[in-house]
Amino acid sequence: MNDKKRLLTGDRPTGKLHLGHYVGSLTNRVQLQDEYECYFLIADLHMLTTKPDKDAIFALRTNTYEMVLDYLAAGIDPAKSTIFLQSSVHAVYEMNLFFEMLVTLPRLSRLPSIKEMARAAHLDDEALPFGLVGYPVLQAADILMPRAHLVPVGKDNESHVEISREISRRFNRMYDEVFPIPDVLIGDVPSLVGTDGQSKMSKSLDNAIFLSDDAKTVANKVRRMYTDPKRVRADIPGTVEGNPVFIYHDVFNPNRSEVEDLKERYRQGRVGDVEVKEKLTTALNQFLDPLRDRRAHFQSQSGMVEEAIYDGTKRANEIGDETLMMMKKAMGLTGVWNRVSRKARARKKTRALD
Ligand code: TRP
Repeated sequence: MNDKKRLLTGDRPTGKLHLGHYVGSLTNRVQLQDEYECYFLIADLHMLTTKPDKDAIFALRTNTYEMVLDYLAAGIDPAKSTIFLQSSVHAVYEMNLFFEMLVTLPRLSRLPSIKEMARAAHLDDEALPFGLVGYPVLQAADILMPRAHLVPVGKDNESHVEISREISRRFNRMYDEVFPIPDVLIGDVPSLVGTDGQSKMSKSLDNAIFLSDDAKTVANKVRRMYTDPKRVRADIPGTVEGNPVFIYHDVFNPNRSEVEDLKERYRQGRVGDVEVKEKLTTALNQFLDPLRDRRAHFQSQSGMVEEAIYDGTKRANEIGDETLMMMKKAMGLTGVWNRVSRKARARKKTRALD
C-alpha cells in the first residue's frame, strides 16, 4: 500500500506555460513528485466559468496538449504522477454540488479574485455568472476529490485554498471525518515580473517568455526587455533593485559570482545593458535546454501526451469514486438509495412470483 500524502494542483488550459508558471508552481511540483502522490488537473471546467462558448471549448484540444507537453517538459513524470482532465471526472461535478451547501454566498462574493476574473472577462455585476461565483467551490471539489493534503499554487489562488479548508472542516464536523484540511504551498517566486517590467508575467499582457520558446526567440525577447529607464548610457550608474533583467538573473542564473559582478559594475556604470542581457540570454537558454530536449522527446512520440492524460484520468476516476462513496456514506445519502432499491427489488420479486 501507498501511504504517501497526496498533492493536487492544476491550471486552466489556456495554452503554453511560461517562466512565471515555472517558478510560481511547476518547480515545486517536480520537486515534490517523489515525496507525494501527485495529482495534476487540467481545469477545463474552470475555464468555462468565464469562457463557455464553443470556440473556447474547441481551443481546448490544442491548449490541453500544449499545456501537458509543458508539464512533461518541465519534468513531471506521468509514470509517477496523475495528470487528468477535470471534465472527465464525474466525482468533481457531484462533489461540487454537495460543497455548494457548505459555503455562503457572501463569503464567495467578497473574494477579490472573483471580482478580478469578472473584470478581466469584461463582465459587470449584472452579467456575473453563477458559475463564476462558484469558482472556488469547484476548486474545493478538485482539491478534495483525491483528499489532497497539499496544494501548491500561486499567491492569487491562496484565498481559494482557504475556502477549501473551510469546506473540508465543515464537512467533517457536520457529517464525519472524511477530508484532510489541505495546506497551501506558495512558490518561492510567487509572482514573476514580465519582460515589460510593468506587471506580472502573463500571456495576455504579451510580456511572457514561454517554456517552449526557442533560443532565438528568448534572445529577441531579452534584447527588448525593460531595464533601468534612467540609464541612457552604459557609463551612467544604474539601479539593480526591481530591475527585471536582474530579477531574472537572480532567479535563473546559477552563476552567482557572475551575477554579483554584473550588479557591481551596473551600479558603478561600468557595464552596458547589452552584456547584462547577453549573459541573461545564455543563462535562460541553459535553463531551458533540458526542457526543450524533453519536449522534443515527448513530441516525437505520437500519442504519448494523450496516453498520459488518458491513464491519469482513469486513475483520477478511481480515487474520485472512492471519495464520493465515502462522502455519501458519511452524509447518510447512500441509505436513501439502498432502502429504495431494497424495497423496489423485493416488490418486483413478489410480483414475478404472482
Ligand atoms: N484556479 C487555478 C488557476 O488559477 C486552477 C485550478 C483549478 C486549481 N482547480 C484547482 C489550482 C485546484 C489548484 C487546485 O488557474
